[in-house]
Amino acid sequence: MPTLLRIDSSSRSEGSHSSKLADRAEADWRHAHPQGTVISRHVGHDPLPVLSQETINGFFSPQEGMNDELRKATALSDQLIDELQSADTLLLAVPIYNFSVPASLKCWIDQITRIGHTFAYVDGAFQGLVQTRRAIVICAYGADGYLDGGDLEAANFLEPYLRFLLAFLGIEEVQIVSVQATTADDVTVSENLSKAEAELESITG
Ligand SMILES: Cc1cc2nc3c(=O)[nH]c(=O)nc-3n(C[C@H](O)[C@H](O)[C@H](O)COP(=O)(O)O)c2cc1C
Repeated sequence: MPTLLRIDSSSRSEGSHSSKLADRAEADWRHAHPQGTVISRHVGHDPLPVLSQETINGFFSPQEGMNDELRKATALSDQLIDELQSADTLLLAVPIYNFSVPASLKCWIDQITRIGHTFAYVDGAFQGLVQTRRAIVICAYGADGYLDGGDLEAANFLEPYLRFLLAFLGIEEVQIVSVQATTADDVTVSENLSKAEAELESITG
C-alpha cells in the first residue's frame, strides 16, 4: 500500500508556512493515492530526545551483544526507522533556524541515521539502505537570497545538508520546494507562497 511519511518541524503552533505548504502536498498525495496511508509526526510540537550514551551503545552493538537495556534504548530509533522504511514517499516540512535545520528535525535525523539499518559501510564506501524512493522537502526561509546565487547562498546549510543526507541514505528522487522572505511584507509573502504552491502542484499534482 502506498505510504507517505510526513515530518513537520516548525516550532510555531500557528501560521507555519512550511506546514501550510506540506498540507497542500499531503492533500495532493492523498488525492493521487486514495487507498494510501499517511504517517505523521510533528517533531516541532512533540520533540524527540537527543541521543543518549545508551542509545549510541545500542547503535554500535552487534545483534548478539544486545541486551534488554540496549534494546530499550534503541526502541524509539527502531520505530522511527520502521516508519521511514514503510514509506514510499517522505515529506519534510522544514523552516531554516539559524542557517540550518531546526534542532527538532536534527533529533529525528540522529535517530534514523543508523549504521546497519539505514546506511552501511561496505568495502570502504557508504551505501544507503533506505527503501523510500522519493522525498519532497519544503523549506521556509525568513529572509531572501539563500538560493540561485543570492547574497546568503553561502549561509544556506539547510538545503545542501538535506540533499546530501537524503542521497546518503539512498533516497534517489529528492524534490525541494522553497519559500523565501516569509518575514517580508504581506504582499511579498503572499506572492512567494503562491509561487511555491504552483511549484508544489507541478511536482505533486
Ligand atoms: C529560532 C529561529 C531561527 C531562525 N533563523 C533563521 C535564519 O537563520 N534565516 C532565516 O532566513 N530565517 C530564520 N528564521 C525565520 C524562519 O525561518 C521563518 O520565519 C520561516 O518561515 C519559519 O518556518 P515556518 O513558517 O514553517 O514556521 C528563524 C526563525 C526562528 C524562530
